[in-house]
Amino acid sequence: MNGIDHNSITHFPKRPKLSRINNGSFGCCPKSIISAQKRWQLDYLSQPDEFYFNKLKTGILQSRLVIKDLVNADHVDEISIVDNATTAAAIVLQSVSWGFSQGRFEKGDACVMLHYAYGAVKKSVEAYVTRVGGFVIEVQLPFPVSSVDEVVSEFRKALARGKNSGKRVRLAVIDHVTSMPSVVIPVKELVKICREEGVDQVFVDAAHGIGCIDVDMKEIGADFYTSNLHKWFFCPPSVAFLYCRKANECNDLHHPVVSHEYGNGLAIESAWIGTRDYSAQLVVPQVLEFVNRFEGGIEGIKKRNHEDVVAMGEMLANAWGTHLGSPPEMCASMIMVGLPACLGISCESDTQKLRTRLRDKFSVEVPIYYRPPRDAEVDTITGYARISHQVYNKPDDYYKFRDAINELVNEGFTCALFS
Ligand SMILES: Cc1ncc(COP(=O)(O)O)c(C=O)c1O
Repeated sequence: MNGIDHNSITHFPKRPKLSRINNGSFGCCPKSIISAQKRWQLDYLSQPDEFYFNKLKTGILQSRLVIKDLVNADHVDEISIVDNATTAAAIVLQSVSWGFSQGRFEKGDACVMLHYAYGAVKKSVEAYVTRVGGFVIEVQLPFPVSSVDEVVSEFRKALARGKNSGKRVRLAVIDHVTSMPSVVIPVKELVKICREEGVDQVFVDAAHGIGCIDVDMKEIGADFYTSNLHKWFFCPPSVAFLYCRKANECNDLHHPVVSHEYGNGLAIESAWIGTRDYSAQLVVPQVLEFVNRFEGGIEGIKKRNHEDVVAMGEMLANAWGTHLGSPPEMCASMIMVGLPACLGISCESDTQKLRTRLRDKFSVEVPIYYRPPRDAEVDTITGYARISHQVYNKPDDYYKFRDAINELVNEGFTCALFS
């Protein structure tokens, strides 16, 4: 293990006794990186002028170079560092909005996105596309899902719907790993279909990308791709990259926070968006050193997390007599596990009730998804837990969750009993 115990939780700040099986929402940052970040902050605060003139730009360039190699981009100019996937989505969608307002696109031109696209990204589509006359085509996806083919087929159907109604698709927004329910989407295949079907551009929202799944810009072939580094790559909040293929006209992408570097290319614009703390963006090289102390580096971490989350998901589904929300090959470091139907999860707010009870009574932190029953479905599973696995997790975290649910079932808990 090259000097690091990958099961040890001591490297990470965590409340004692908490079983945090929700790395997916906020990620994690080891104590050594928090210290490195503090050193950057002190360096800045002790001589801001010198830091600004001599260190900030080169530091951010170093981080971009690390990311460029990690994601197999052609050139460092293709990599911009931004705060988070939400910001990256705003950058891409803002450029679509300009397509409408500057007359390059016509009213009714479309944007394709998954029904399970992240809520905040859907709002961005509403703000930047629908508001200026764009049409949105949603791809319905089955859940639970049993094969990649189901996703591909629904995607083709959605594009065909657009074509049949004479829509020109200007942008496809495709999640690499959907958030809720969490499923790995076959992005490479979907990008290829977009090319065949004449979709103008493809943006992959991989908020859960780097450190969680394979992220290779040449393989995937999208025009734009974003991934957070604070979710599965151990960076402090908040840091993400936005890849923009050099062959495209990157210059029409701009950071929504306009500052002095406006017009100098997205990467340079994004590296100065006014006075603020840039330390999270500067620790990327130190994070790489941290992950390289684990056997197999980030690849090894990713592989073990996947194996462990599948094993723990299967253990839970067996214990509760339920099933997984996707086959193991359609999950990465998070998997959906069906909860016993008798818990009576019958709306969104029930998921919060159950989640709060798990947190307050059992010290288990896990998000819950509500899947409405389809027509004629009775006594079906309507609640799924999204469990994550990261290096700090241990089997006991999942056993505690299993026992908590069993205890709730045995005591006759149903969501209807709690207002
Ligand atoms: C698919 C997806 N897109 C976007 C986001 C937003 O990420 P952030 O809050 O870091 O901007 C998330 C967050 O979980 C996500 O899962």
